[in-house]
Amino acid sequence: MADKITIMYTEEEIDNRIRELGAQITKEYAGKEITMICILKGAAPFACELAKRIDLPVEMDFMRCSSYGNETESSGVVKIDLDLDRPVRDKHLLIVEDIIDTGRTMHYLLDILKSRGPADVKLCALLDKPDRRVADVDIDYTGFVIPDEFIVGYGLDYAQRYRNLPYIGVVRPQ
Ligand code: IMP
Ligand code: MG
Repeated sequence: MADKITIMYTEEEIDNRIRELGAQITKEYAGKEITMICILKGAAPFACELAKRIDLPVEMDFMRCSSYGNETESSGVVKIDLDLDRPVRDKHLLIVEDIIDTGRTMHYLLDILKSRGPADVKLCALLDKPDRRVADVDIDYTGFVIPDEFIVGYGLDYAQRYRNLPYIGVVRPQ
């Protein structure tokens, strides 16, 4: 039976917000080249749209991590399943993530990336769920701050489904 999904942000609202983020990033990184690091799989749709709204040279690289834990909560012990294919020393890194929930995954990942000697590291997250935070993470660019609900769409999944929805919605399994 199909799950019930209630729309939280429409495709148009997301598109408008991404254009705003792109404009802000373009202004703040003026004169620099950005190395965008897309965290697979969830951030892929967001990173692709965001990259198109940044009017500067953008190099794109990809990383995939998994964190041991149960179905709904990460443990913070992160394993890199797919690493970047180029060194990041002296680069301006912009990490693009779908959602910061407990913050454990990103807290760990930020440490790893900072240890590789980039010029600087900033974080852009489509969604921030601050109610569930347990590990400190500074988000430089946030799409939307959301309440503690399980959401899907625009890259986010529930058991690998719904990543392709063009909107963001709350899923209530039937
Ligand atoms: P955390 O910040 O380490 O707890 O984990 C963040 C990851 O958990 C995200 O990259 C998502 O893959 C997943 N996640 C957290 N909240 C949600 C949600 O509401 N829907 C779908 N995935 C989520
Ligand atoms: Mg993820």
